[in-house]
Order: sequence, then structure tokens, then C-alpha cells
Amino acid sequence: MTEARIWDRLAGRYDTIVRLFDTSYGRVRERLAADIEAGGRVLEIAAGTGQFTLDLARVADSLVATDVSPAMVERLRQRVTDAGLDGVECRVMSAYAIEPADARFDAIFCANALHVMDEPRRALAEFHRVLRADGVLVAPTFLHGVDGFRRALSRSLSVVSPFVAHTRFDLAALKQTMVDAGFDVVHAEAMSGLFPLGYVVARPAAGSGQMVSRGPSEQTAHGPAKRP
Ligand SMILES: C[S@@+](CC[C@H](N)C(=O)[O-])C[C@H]1O[C@@H](n2cnc3c(N)ncnc32)[C@H](O)[C@@H]1O
Repeated sequence: MTEARIWDRLAGRYDTIVRLFDTSYGRVRERLAADIEAGGRVLEIAAGTGQFTLDLARVADSLVATDVSPAMVERLRQRVTDAGLDGVECRVMSAYAIEPADARFDAIFCANALHVMDEPRRALAEFHRVLRADGVLVAPTFLHGVDGFRRALSRSLSVVSPFVAHTRFDLAALKQTMVDAGFDVVHAEAMSGLFPLGYVVARPAAGSGQMVSRGPSEQTAHGPAKRP
């Protein structure tokens, strides 16, 4: 079954199930308002039913909220409509093929998803490609590999439920995966919970091949990444 089909089948129960794991979500909401500069163009990847979308909409100038699962996006769209938000575009989109191909974003937010993707490195390469040189990636990711107990629990969950962690990160491994993808990690902490949540903020590393977008027709390779 494709990733999209698995999550389509979960969409109706997702808001109930996520409550088992979301003890750190309040803290993420506080942090994201500080870590994502107000007024920018923001892309949300793997938005699910929109657990963070309304919070992102408050800081973003424009927000594109996406998920690979059409059923998740249907619920996401409903949440955005119910909140009466204009300026949030909800789209079905894979983290592995961000569209349009020439898009550039000031911030990317991807929560509770890198560990469930079968190719997180491919997703990070795409994030790096579409993020501005002075942009920011915020990626809170559950850490299923912090100790033997969590590894065993994660393996059991994979057998008895559709929640499969393809990568059982600890915080060091999550940070290294980002560094390998061309990012500098500027903040990382483990927020406590049944599975700790690795809250990582990263920026494209200087000289990592990022492009500075100056307008629709003019793009140049950057020097050292600007920091706000
Ligand atoms: C555990 S949910 C997280 C939803 C939400 N971000 C949250 O924190 O509650 C994981 C989401 O990742 C999405 N997803 C899985 N693989 C994906 C991919 N390759 N591209 C985009 N979304 C993906 C699923 O459809 C699902 O909605």
C-alpha cells in the first residue's frame, strides 16, 4: 500500500489517536511562533488534519499547507475553512516532489513526519532545494530510538497499528541526518512524552548549494547564508 493510502485510511481517526502522543504539541506551538519569522512565505509539509496549521497561519504572510494523503487534506481544508482563514492554500503534495518546481520559501515546517516517511533524506533534499538561503526549517520529529524501551514499543506499534516509524531516531541521529542534507542545526531539544519529540530548527549551511531567489527570473548561488 502506498504512503498516501495508509494515511487516507487513518485520517478519520487521526485527531483522536494523536492525543496519545501530543503532550509536547503545546510547547511546539509556543516555539514555532518564535522560530518562524513573522510575515514570510511558509510551506507546511505533512500537515495531516492541521494540528499546527492555524498556528502557522498566524505568523505567516502566506501559507501553503500540504500532505500526501488526499483524505488528510480534505480534513485540513475543513479546519482552515471552519477557522475562516483566507490566504491558506491546502494542497495534496508529496514531500519528495515539492511544486511548483521553482517555488522558494522563507520557512518550512514539518511536524511528526520525518520518522514515518520511508525516505526522510529524500524529503530533506527537497526542503533544502526549495528553502531560501536565509530560510528556516522547523521539524519536530518523534524519537523512537532513544532507548531500548522506546525501540521495543515502536516495533510493537508497527506490528499492531498502521503507525510505522521507518526511522527510529535519537536526537543525535536526527541532527546528523539534517547536517548530511546540507543544514546547520541551530537549535535541538528533546521534549518529553511517551516518545520524546525532537524539536529541531535548521538553516541551509553556507556553501551547501542553496540558491538565493531575487525574483521570478533571477536566481544566483549564494555565499554565506544570511542570518536574521
Ligand atoms: C503522524 S502524521 C502528522 C500530521 C501532523 N503534522 C501532526 O503533527 O499531527 C504524518 C503525516 O505525514 C504524511 N506523510 C507521510 N509521508 C509523506 C510524504 N512522503 N509526503 C508528504 N506527507 C507525508 C501523512 O499523510 C500524515 O498526514
